[in-house]
Amino acid sequence: MKRFKALSLLLAVVLILSVSACTLKGPDKKLVVATNAQFPPFEYVTEAGQGVIDKYDGIDILIVQEIAKDHGFKIEIADMEFNSIIASVTTGKADIGVAGMTDTADRRENVDFSIPYWVAVQTIIVPETNTDITSAESLKGKKVGVVTGYTGDSALSDMGDINLLRFNKGIDAVMELTNGKLDAVVIDSPTANRFIEKFDGLKAVYDDTVFETEQYAIAVQKGNQELLDKINSTIERLIANKDIERFAEEIDARFQS
Ligand code: ARG
Repeated sequence: MKRFKALSLLLAVVLILSVSACTLKGPDKKLVVATNAQFPPFEYVTEAGQGVIDKYDGIDILIVQEIAKDHGFKIEIADMEFNSIIASVTTGKADIGVAGMTDTADRRENVDFSIPYWVAVQTIIVPETNTDITSAESLKGKKVGVVTGYTGDSALSDMGDINLLRFNKGIDAVMELTNGKLDAVVIDSPTANRFIEKFDGLKAVYDDTVFETEQYAIAVQKGNQELLDKINSTIERLIANKDIERFAEEIDARFQS
């Protein structure tokens, strides 16, 4: 009986190891990074060869590069729909999900998260001339753009009574706002600030009574403690050395130029 138990445990371990991202073993250890490169300043696409890794640039990409350096990984960026990232990590198609992703209880049912590396909050973007949208509550009855599957989408869906329009990327929602087709857009603060800098005539409205702060973390397959420990050790080092703030400044400077 004891032997049977030991054998089934061994089998279970072998099974788990074989379904989890196997590219991480061997001489050519490749870390497949699932992201959605439509989220400046965390990840966005620039000209080929101009980004930190190939055409990909952003704070997350700089973090990924540090993980690669610390643990001897090669990196492959898998740019996909935001909503596919968790599934690609749970199925082992990707090793980690790095996407300015908020650590939420819902997502924790499917993946494990690293220690947090950034704090953000949902931000309401409105035309500068707008005076009646002053809080989350005042979005009721308005046409509001969100991005499908983002935490802003779930926060506003939970509120009800809002005429929600879902977009594939933040920029598409903001374009509609500048064209006068929407009353507001709700998206994470760092990205909202980018859009406000980039387009004339927009401003930010905050509501910390409704929107709670969100912590960005890296997603790994559930139970992959070995990889999680590696990721955490790099994030700890970056936080201790204030490197992440430095990365943000570096990306800021590059994004503006
Ligand atoms: N923080 C938000 C969330 O986790 C938005 C993240 C969007 N990230 C991206 N790379 N498109 O839902």
